[in-house]
Amino acid sequence: SAAEMGGYDYFMLKEIAEQPKAVADTLLGRIDPAGSLTLDEVRIPPRVLREVDKVVVVACGTAFHAGLIAKYAIEHWTRIPCEVELASEFRYRDPILDPRSLVIAISQSGETMDTLMALRHAREQGSRVLAICNTNGSTIPRESDAVLYTRAGPEVAVASTKAFLTQLVACYLVALYLGQVRGTKWGDEIRAVVRDLAEISGAVQRVLETMEPVRELARSLAGKDTVLFLGRHVGYPVALEGALKLKELAYMHAEGFAAGELKHGPIALIEEDLPVVVVVPSPRGRSVLHDKIVSNIQEIRARGARTIVIAEEGDEAVVPYADHLIRVPATPTLLQPLVTTVPLQVFACELATARGNEVDQPRNLAKSVTVE
Ligand code: AGP
Repeated sequence: SAAEMGGYDYFMLKEIAEQPKAVADTLLGRIDPAGSLTLDEVRIPPRVLREVDKVVVVACGTAFHAGLIAKYAIEHWTRIPCEVELASEFRYRDPILDPRSLVIAISQSGETMDTLMALRHAREQGSRVLAICNTNGSTIPRESDAVLYTRAGPEVAVASTKAFLTQLVACYLVALYLGQVRGTKWGDEIRAVVRDLAEISGAVQRVLETMEPVRELARSLAGKDTVLFLGRHVGYPVALEGALKLKELAYMHAEGFAAGELKHGPIALIEEDLPVVVVVPSPRGRSVLHDKIVSNIQEIRARGARTIVIAEEGDEAVVPYADHLIRVPATPTLLQPLVTTVPLQVFACELATARGNEVDQPRNLAKSVTVE
């Protein structure tokens, strides 16, 4: 009803707007001011977590993209090897699992059959399963050893937005918690991340306040057939998520690529005026990545692409090569998906509207997929 939509035309718009609160709520009470994590609800004994020698994330769709990002955080902060797999592929390849494997099942609904079957398979092999879920009492958390709830509140629109951002927050918390329990040296970098995590909700809010040019751009592209998305490092899963949003909502051909793969094939797709969205990593810190993506942008632009560049405030190196520039606040590299995903959600939602599509109920899709 109109009342439930709180003055927004679509649930999706409302849910995009709720993201700063969803992110803040998901952090609430889980990090203390001194920077240590309290995740009592993760009822897997620290003794068991210390023994973990492999993390395996299983999920579908948008939740899978959150898992891809989790891998970067888990491996970087804890040095535990982490695999991420589509839940629908997982059990069919006879994965190597044992009691020392920690399986993380990510699901907004908690009812996705593919993810449920994957976690059942993992438990049969004696692995512990931690669910990251948005729906209290749903099947996936009930069948898991432990659950960390995201606190996005009910997500009604079929296209996942606020659930995704809170899944990322939950993944960061789990990664940091694993590090804490296992006694990872809490260097300056991790301390800075914990501090910035506490402020990330404000950064998401600032992104939301600057979205009008993104909406305008989206409307101007309503007649296009294809949009490509490029990213590196954690920007790569963000590119995949941007493409998925566009497929589900705008029914356009959209593909995400790792920018480094361009020269191995996808660059052949570039033609005059093709819109290409590029998610640019921070020029601070891992600046090699930044330099590489700037040359990727130059390469595609030289071949006629219309470049839509998402870059951190103050990143001047991208300016000469950006036909459209979308600014996001500076964050630590691993947290950047929390701000770079937001413009892609707004972009897809506006394109859907411009093309006359049903935003909250895209054709052929269901909010939760309870069949395999
Ligand atoms: C996201 O926009 C999609 N509608 C879809 O990919 C979704 O993320 C996927 O089906 C997983 O759902 P879940 O999080 O409820 O398990």
